[in-house]
Order: sequence, then structure tokens, then C-alpha cells
Amino acid sequence: MTRFIGIIGYPLKHTLSPAFQQAALDHYQLDIRYWPWETEPAQLHTAVSKLRWPENIGANVTVPHKETVMTLVDEVDSVAAAIGAVNTIVKRGGQLVGYNTDARGFIRSLKEDAFFDPKGRRVVVLGSGGAARAVCFGLLAEGVASIVIVNRTLRRANELADALSRRRSGVSTGAEVLVVGWGSEEFADCLKHCHLVVNCTILGMAHGPGEGESPLATELIPRNALVYDLVYNPAETPLLQAARRVGARRLGGLTMLVYQGAASFELWIGRPAPVDVMMLAARKALAKLS
Ligand SMILES: NC(=O)c1ccc[n+]([C@@H]2O[C@H](COP(=O)([O-])OP(=O)(O)OC[C@H]3O[C@@H](n4cnc5c(N)ncnc54)[C@H](OP(=O)(O)O)[C@@H]3O)[C@@H](O)[C@H]2O)c1
Repeated sequence: MTRFIGIIGYPLKHTLSPAFQQAALDHYQLDIRYWPWETEPAQLHTAVSKLRWPENIGANVTVPHKETVMTLVDEVDSVAAAIGAVNTIVKRGGQLVGYNTDARGFIRSLKEDAFFDPKGRRVVVLGSGGAARAVCFGLLAEGVASIVIVNRTLRRANELADALSRRRSGVSTGAEVLVVGWGSEEFADCLKHCHLVVNCTILGMAHGPGEGESPLATELIPRNALVYDLVYNPAETPLLQAARRVGARRLGGLTMLVYQGAASFELWIGRPAPVDVMMLAARKALAKLS
């Protein structure tokens, strides 16, 4: 019997996951198909129920369902619960279990692709959505010295900082978490002294409302820091172009995407993810989109 995995999100026109997950499944010659399961919010309940059918193994979950889906699965693992979002569902003994592999993917890419050890470093995080939450939780777990959060909507930045503080009291990392206003002098000062700046906003993403925009003006980009853009389409975003102009080190979001997918693959299949095969397929699929 052919079995199925898919990605649940809306819209899904530009998703790369089917290309690189199918390449990984084919690498092991598994009779499993990975489909884009485009799902409007009103259909989410039905889409999750279908995962209980015998031929289905699990799913990835993406925007805008990562938070809502937590209420539809039978169990949420502790990392996903701390982050407050599920991006992977695995069926175990008939039960749907929710995981989050974004933080793992982000930290792996920092260490393996940028050779950046977050321990003791000062970080500026732009954005306060689901991706920012995963990034901040990952960074805290790695023992960063401080995280400065900046977001268009200040309330959401404060909510994220509060959530991080609650989590920190459990793990007592001693990290400082600050919220500063976008465009404030304090913001410019924090940028000057940081080791890492991470764009977790949608600014710069192709086909989105912030296409062609950079979250930072060129003169604000710290030349001695690593500039990491979670946006992976285009491969060189406006932020990364600006970072190149000032001579800063740069990393785009494609490797994180593949590593979070590799962690999901291992949860579903229980075999090591063929990361090189997945990376190549992701790069080819991205080139086709551009
Ligand atoms: N590489 C990867 O593996 C990976 C994984 C996850 C996500 N991502 C990328 O990360 C980005 C964020 O994803 P998400 O899931 O966190 O989305 P989300 O939950 O919708 O959050 C979007 C964020 O972007 C901000 N934003 C939206 N429009 C803006 C504007 N015009 N000006 C300034 N800020 C704006 C939002 O600010 P407000 O709070 O003010 O609305 C919020 O902080 C996306 O581009 C996504 O593709 C990449």
C-alpha cells in the first residue's frame, strides 16, 4: 500500500518541502508520497482528522496553522509546547503527536553552516511571530547572553519576551531578554554591539507583501556580526544584499528549512535523513521558482 505524508498550510504555491522530502523518500526507495495539502483555515480540522486514516503517516504544518493545530492533535511534545507551535505531526500507535523542529533546524544551520556558537553571544531578533519564537527558544537553550526583540507590533514583542521569561525561570539560563522600539536609538545601539542579527519577519520574501524590502537600512547593519535571514526565497534577500555591501557575514534560510525538514523526516521514517540529497533537491526547486 502506498502511504502518504504532506504539508498542511495555506497558501502552498511556493513551498519547497514536497521537492526535498520526496527526494529523501525516493533515496530510500520507500513507497511513500509527500503531497502539498493546501488547507484553508476552515478545513484544518478535516485535514488533521484525515491523518488518522491508515495510509497516512504524518504531516508538516506551516503558516497559518502552526498554533491552531496544537489543539487538534492528541499530544504535544515538550519542545513544541514551550515554543507554542507545531510544525510536524507524527502518528504513533494511532495517536497524533505534535513536534516542532524549527528551533533544531535553526541552531543546526548556525553551527554547521555559519560555524557560529551561540553560547555567550548577544543577539538581535527582528520579528515576533512563530519563527521568532522558535529562534528565541533555540538560542536560549544554547546559552546566549542576551536577546533583543524588535517587532512592528510592540505588543507581540512584549508577549514573546514574557513567554521567554516564563520559560527561562524553568531552565535558569541567566540570559537577558529586552524589547526595544523599531527605529529607536536603543535599537541602533543594540545592533552596533550584537554578534548575530536574525530576520524573522516576512520582509524580503518573494511573492509576499514585503517583497523587495529589507528590515534594516544598510547603515544599521553591523559589519562584524553574522546577518541571518530566515527568508529563503529569494536566495539573496534585500537584507543579505545590504549585508554583503557592508562586508558582514551572511546566511540565508534555506539550510534551516532543509534541517527542520530533515528532523521531521527522521521522526516519521526513523532513519537518518539524507541531508545532501534534500539540500540539492531544495536548491533545484528554489532555482525553478526564481
Ligand atoms: N527558513 C526556515 O526554515 C523558516 C522557518 C519558518 C519561517 N521562515 C520564514 O520566517 C518568516 C516569518 O515566518 P513566521 O511563521 O514567523 O510568520 P508570522 O508568524 O506570520 O510572523 C510574521 C512576522 O513578520 C512581521 N511583519 C509582517 N509584515 C511586516 C511589515 N510590513 N513590516 C515589519 N514586520 C512585518 C510580523 O510583525 P507583526 O507582529 O507586527 O505582524 C511578525 O513579526 C517568513 O518569511 C517565513 O518564510 C523560515
